[in-house]
Amino acid sequence: MGRTPWSAADLVGLSGIVWGCFGSAKSGSRGTRADQGGDQGGDQRVRPAGQNKCHWVVNLDAALWGSQSWLQPAFSRLSSLRGPFGFNCQANWPRMTIKTALLQGVALLEDAAVPVPRLTAEVLLSHALRRERVYLFAHPEQELREVEWLHYGRYLHERIKGKPTQYVTGRQEFYGREFRVTPDVLIPRPETEHVVEVALAVIRKNSASGACRLLDAGTGSGALAVTLQLETGATAFATDISAAATTVAARNAATLGAAVHFTVCDLMQAFADSSFDLIVSNPPYVPLKHREGLQREVRDWEPHIALFAGETGYEMYHRIVADAVRVLRPGGWLVMELGFGCADRVAGLLSTWRDSRIEPDLAGIPRVIAARLA
Ligand SMILES: C[S@@+](CC[C@H](N)C(=O)[O-])C[C@H]1O[C@@H](n2cnc3c(N)ncnc32)[C@H](O)[C@@H]1O
Repeated sequence: MGRTPWSAADLVGLSGIVWGCFGSAKSGSRGTRADQGGDQGGDQRVRPAGQNKCHWVVNLDAALWGSQSWLQPAFSRLSSLRGPFGFNCQANWPRMTIKTALLQGVALLEDAAVPVPRLTAEVLLSHALRRERVYLFAHPEQELREVEWLHYGRYLHERIKGKPTQYVTGRQEFYGREFRVTPDVLIPRPETEHVVEVALAVIRKNSASGACRLLDAGTGSGALAVTLQLETGATAFATDISAAATTVAARNAATLGAAVHFTVCDLMQAFADSSFDLIVSNPPYVPLKHREGLQREVRDWEPHIALFAGETGYEMYHRIVADAVRVLRPGGWLVMELGFGCADRVAGLLSTWRDSRIEPDLAGIPRVIAARLA
């Protein structure tokens, strides 16, 4: 694989770093290897991790907080610029192997109490290398290039600040496919794959020919609509009230080759009466009163419109059931994901429907409700 080109974002970041360094150089604070506790002279290769732990944590940590020590390799690449900025790049800056980078990343993530630090470090490092995770285990002694080192440090920094790993990498797997995710969309959850399972069973049982018209109301990344369209060949529509989310979903559909028609609208407002055989939805269902108790990654990063529908968390279920009665053809199915503790009350909303059933998730929690319009 060739060298990863500098993206515009990298250059913006790097220019900030350059200015940071310039400022500190001007104020006379630029450190030396000795200041940073590193080895002097000769080969600066990494020693076994145990011996170098402090040194490397210092280097990675310093990078995260903006010191120029970690950035020296990048500066050496910018040596043509050093005249005006007054850099004095040294030839023997430390190099870091994949193995050491992982150890240091894990240490930093652990210190910041980030959950699953090892897996997180692996995902972030493989993303920095633009490789699959398995590559890390096959090439533990490979040295990181400067650009990879810079990317990795930035990703660790973002994660430590609370950004979910999926928003750092821009990816989340759902039902065996990779979806692009940005902070404009909810990160698709494994529980939502149960909605797919139930919807697939409904489609296969009721339209053997696959001639099904389905709607995903509140599509977010497009996970449900795209998956169901690809799995069944159904005629698929999807809505979201967020134009930004719809853009992400449309891009996912295009990348994955799914034929889904996207509309920005309030639930099912754009559609005529009796126009669908199946409606699926994973609505916002977190009660507003639970907001402060959410993980910071969720509360501070995921779109609030994807999480909260109102004080009780039931608000969107009421609206979806009312709309579905109009938009489903007689005998059509509604399949919805259930929030924690919602099952009985949502089942009550569907008491006049037929064949109502609730499916648990792998933890045994009621997760999906399906019912058929009478
Ligand atoms: C919990 S997220 C589900 C996203 C995706 N379906 C999934 O399962 O990962 C709920 C989605 O509903 C959208 N939404 C919220 N209110 C809506 C409304 N009134 N009409 C349409 N979409 C809405 C949000 O923007 C968000 O994308």
